[in-house]
Amino acid sequence: MPAKLDLIAIRRDLHQHPETAFNEHRTARVIADHLRSLGLQPRFVATTGVVAEIEGAESGPLVALRADTDALPIQEQSGVGFASRYPGVMHACGHDMHVAILLGAAEILSQSRRELRGRVRLIFQPAEETTEGARALVEAGVIDGVEAIFGLHNHPGLPAGKVAFREGSLMAASDRLRIKVLGKGGHAAQPHLTIDPVVAAAGILTGMQTLVSRVVDPLEPLVVSIGHLTAGSTFNVIPDTALMEGTVRYFNPELRRVLPRQLKGLVSGIAEGYRCSAEVEYQHMVPPVHNDTRLNELALGCAIDLLGEENTLPAERSLGAEDFAVYQECVPGCFFWLGSGGPYGWHHPAFTVDESAIEVGARLLAAMAREATRIL
Ligand code: NI
Repeated sequence: MPAKLDLIAIRRDLHQHPETAFNEHRTARVIADHLRSLGLQPRFVATTGVVAEIEGAESGPLVALRADTDALPIQEQSGVGFASRYPGVMHACGHDMHVAILLGAAEILSQSRRELRGRVRLIFQPAEETTEGARALVEAGVIDGVEAIFGLHNHPGLPAGKVAFREGSLMAASDRLRIKVLGKGGHAAQPHLTIDPVVAAAGILTGMQTLVSRVVDPLEPLVVSIGHLTAGSTFNVIPDTALMEGTVRYFNPELRRVLPRQLKGLVSGIAEGYRCSAEVEYQHMVPPVHNDTRLNELALGCAIDLLGEENTLPAERSLGAEDFAVYQECVPGCFFWLGSGGPYGWHHPAFTVDESAIEVGARLLAAMAREATRIL
């Protein structure tokens, strides 16, 4: 049998060598090497994704466990001794920890495969941060034949040793919005001779907020945020165009269908009021993370067994997004929060994790997979 994987050393090595979305070449090689050391046969998918399977002694259902593997374009300021060696790149969302956890689960499951029914597919997914990785892997067929999928994300708001679950929607759908306002430029001292797209953009920006609560039911969570707004290049010239880009977040899948039309109507109407026109591009990025009732109950049961009821908490919903949702469009799944301590939040340059959560996560994922292959 292989030597026991040193999960903390693995996590620290990945932390020192972070790679951004679809650049996870070294990460993928490291993962594959560890999987081979467990006697598994990893294969590469969608360039930097890695998939392997653990076959139980008895035939049964196929259950998947997923970890994301990518880092962020952030300059690390955590002060840890094993900080990133790559300038401007950092594991500031703890995906290094997720990889170590899934390798830990792989070890537990492969060493107890005689008691395992069915198969467990391990999915190491690239490019979560750009929400492109899950889609690429689904298109490559990694979810084919899978009957249930489990995944987790570290949570700096919960101490290590605690976990949180929620049935139904846990995280939001995330869509992308791009609006180009078209006017006619000219001298800023003679605005009546121009068609000013800047004033129109300002009207659109504030007007869009009426979508929240005035067009969509106020009891329905919805966010429309513009993060990028540009127009013109100097102080005394009215430009021809203004551009804004933003994100739309919500839980209700019905909104996914109606929002593009509602937003386009509102934006075009406001633009017209200012004698401008508007080109609206609305792109669906990821659906909401929606936890299957039965699998959530199963996962919760495993957590209570391992950690006790006092460490198993109900999760709040978050308008953050996760491309784990893309798998859940195809198969029922459960995604949960693994406490990893603070004080800094995700994507902060000083982000750190409590490494004691790695073993907790590994044991939980292994238990969930084992239990799911038993009852499905
Ligand atoms: Ni993340």
